[in-house]
Amino acid sequence: MTGEHQKIRIRHFSIADLPQALEIEPVSFRMVDAWSKPIFRKWYRRCPDLFIVAEVSGIIAGYMCTSIEQKTGEIESIAVDPASRRQGVASALMDYTLTEMRASAITTVELQVRTSNTGGIRFWQNLGFSPSGILSNFYDDGGEALQMEKSLT
Ligand SMILES: CC(C)(COP(=O)(O)OP(=O)(O)OC[C@H]1O[C@@H](n2cnc3c(N)ncnc32)[C@H](O)[C@@H]1OP(=O)(O)O)[C@@H](O)C(=O)NCCC(=O)NCCS
Repeated sequence: MTGEHQKIRIRHFSIADLPQALEIEPVSFRMVDAWSKPIFRKWYRRCPDLFIVAEVSGIIAGYMCTSIEQKTGEIESIAVDPASRRQGVASALMDYTLTEMRASAITTVELQVRTSNTGGIRFWQNLGFSPSGILSNFYDDGGEALQMEKSLT
């Protein structure tokens, strides 16, 4: 399974990828938000089909995990190593995920992003996601989330 972006290969996450994925966490998220090893394992068990990584020159540059509930996809996490950002890595992960969701007749995609994460919000807006609500006290430190969604129909 390969992605369509030049030099970026999209494939399923495997447990052997954990050490590299864990290195991306603390440099991508606040400590309270970063996934631990047990959290990676939990999500891998729950949604192995849409738990994917992006490889660039054999190195994991980013990962993405999406769960499906009925006809709605929920983006659980996406992160790209800082050294590989603004090179289309997250877009390649999203392209793959959107193609799979459309093939499974998923109608809506949702996510939450910290209201302070302006770069993240720009990324989602660029992909056609729109704000659909504010969730106060969403994060473990009491932080607020912007709920965003995109229709696939
Ligand atoms: C958000 C994130 C996943 C984007 O990954 P990426 O691989 O750099 O994204 P892409 O290169 O595919 O970006 C595509 C477009 O999104 C927009 N974008 C992405 N990051 C942006 C930023 N920091 N500021 C403004 N716009 C941004 C741009 O329009 C960009 O196109 P351009 O580079 O041609 O201008 C990455 O910055 C990251 O891992 N951040 C920390 C974790 C995080 O915030 N995750 C999302 C939480 S919901």
